[in-house]
Amino acid sequence: MTKTGTIYGINGPIVYVKGDAGFEMHEMVTVGKDSLVGEVIGLSAQSTTIQVYEETTGIKPGETVTGSGAPVSAVLAPGILSNIFDGIERPLKEIAKTGGAYIPRGVNVDSLDREKLWDTHITVKKGEQLLPGAIIAEVPETPAIVHKVMLPPDLEGYVTDVVADGKYTIDDRLLTLQLPDGTERDITMTQRWPIRVPRPTAKRFPPAMPLITGQRILDTMFPLAKGGTAAIPGGFGTGKTMTQHQIAKWSDADIIIYIGCGERGNEMTQVLEEFSELIDPKSGNPLLDRTTLIANTSNMPVAAREASLYSGLTLAEYYRDMGYHVAIMADSTSRWAEALRELSGRLEEMPAEEGFPAYLASRLSAFYERAGMMQNLNGTEGSVSIIGAVSPQGGDFSEPVTMNTKRFVRCFWGLDKNLAYSRHFPAIQWLTSYSEYLTDLAPWYTENVDRKFVDYRNRLVFLLTQESSLMEIVKLIGSDVLPDDQKLILEIAKVIRVGFLQQNAFHADDTCVPLSKQFKMMETILYLYKKSRALISMGMPMSVLKEDKIFDKVIAMKYDIPNSKPELFDEYKKMIDQFYDDVVERNA
Ligand SMILES: Nc1ncnc2c1ncn2[C@@H]1O[C@H](COP(=O)(O)OP(=O)(O)OP(=O)(O)O)[C@@H](O)[C@H]1O
Ligand SMILES: [Mg+2]
Repeated sequence: MTKTGTIYGINGPIVYVKGDAGFEMHEMVTVGKDSLVGEVIGLSAQSTTIQVYEETTGIKPGETVTGSGAPVSAVLAPGILSNIFDGIERPLKEIAKTGGAYIPRGVNVDSLDREKLWDTHITVKKGEQLLPGAIIAEVPETPAIVHKVMLPPDLEGYVTDVVADGKYTIDDRLLTLQLPDGTERDITMTQRWPIRVPRPTAKRFPPAMPLITGQRILDTMFPLAKGGTAAIPGGFGTGKTMTQHQIAKWSDADIIIYIGCGERGNEMTQVLEEFSELIDPKSGNPLLDRTTLIANTSNMPVAAREASLYSGLTLAEYYRDMGYHVAIMADSTSRWAEALRELSGRLEEMPAEEGFPAYLASRLSAFYERAGMMQNLNGTEGSVSIIGAVSPQGGDFSEPVTMNTKRFVRCFWGLDKNLAYSRHFPAIQWLTSYSEYLTDLAPWYTENVDRKFVDYRNRLVFLLTQESSLMEIVKLIGSDVLPDDQKLILEIAKVIRVGFLQQNAFHADDTCVPLSKQFKMMETILYLYKKSRALISMGMPMSVLKEDKIFDKVIAMKYDIPNSKPELFDEYKKMIDQFYDDVVERNA
């Protein structure tokens, strides 16, 4: 029996139904004669509260709300990758085809193509006992990614019948399963999962592997673990989107879920165009082959924006369950929080800080908690890493979204407007940013890059902190009075800032740098420091050391040494030795 209720009140995206119509909390409903998509968000004896994912203009009291009997869910099957969805997994390309440029309201467009035939290789046999989440088939979803078709996490049983390898749609039966209670169930490629419920896993692993991004300030200075969480807070135009794009393009995640949340429409179009053209450097395939975009631009309904994060998480967890490393970018979580604020205002809830609802913190926490490196139910291992941009007004990090986000993420990549104005990119402030994964990941760097990696990294950080305290003095009395060993610290810190931390996203080689080169660069800088310090202790003044322009030459190594020619670092070592000998000889 389909349950129905009657609308008696409408307030923007919120619709009220008289009395208790028998709906469940979070049940998906269709609203009014236009059949708009909505979700039950409040139940009481007097009324039922529904948030509507589409424009509610035109809806009138007296119209009907119809229950679907199921929570708002994501449809999970091949066809998710390379696709572009709105916040409730409606395909924007498909919708545009049927209804023009804008999403028409109440359209019943399927999330995924139900006609397309997929090459299917069945991996189970008749008579086999399957556990929840078991992989039952493989489908090459894109040239880059093999889709592992799985049993839903809440089903297990005996395979009583199975189809042969061949071409199937996502609705075709692949096998028949006899459940523990004796009943039989047809299994297709498709599963549905409620977006607000984390998909179950067997076990959570502690962070132990970095998500390698090719960005020096991230990988070397403030690394993110696979399955970890990071925030990129920054004022207007400081590089939040650029940083997320760089990670989407270059990181060693298998799958990217990019959630454009409340940002400008043209920015989202740009993402689309750029990602469609980009080639994944690792496979030579288009980047879109391993990417899904969820777009909820600023002109789209706020309730769908609120849902977009959960839709994205659910898609990410689904690919994690196949054994993939997935990275989610959310740009921007502040616009998502503003959607919460608007909905909360409509519900006339008691506002907390800056009008945000009191549950802002718990919602943020629940979002970031869905990250993790997991052992899946089927025994594979996969991860979901979450990277959230935060856009505080005027770059003021003391506002509620930034402050609360900081409580739940373990990497904080703080963008600085002064750095951005002076064109120091990425404008991640090295003194205020941090990664709490450093200790967890140290063994990995020792084993996979070099045992001195973390030590060198810490030495660079120490030099930068020394620079910062020296700058306090310089501001007061100028640099001339500093002793030469301190002048050297300033010079080396500049080499670190300009030669190492600054990284040009538009330079063919510098845009993504392997860890081995990041290490060699640190080694070269520290070798230059060691040799220079020896000269200073012999009484040579800084002015003499600077005559050879050696500091500038080392700064330029990021461009002068191609990623493919690490052997050139030996030349740099010789060049530094030569510099040392020359200075000694000239001043003998
Ligand atoms: N890593 C980088 N390398 C080179 N240029 C960069 C880099 N990061 C940012 N920029 C420059 O800064 C500009 C603004 O960056 P971006 O659009 O990412 O900022 P944003 O913080 O997302 O801004 P908004 O607040 O408008 O969303 C870019 O167009 C680019 O010119
Ligand atoms: Mg941006």
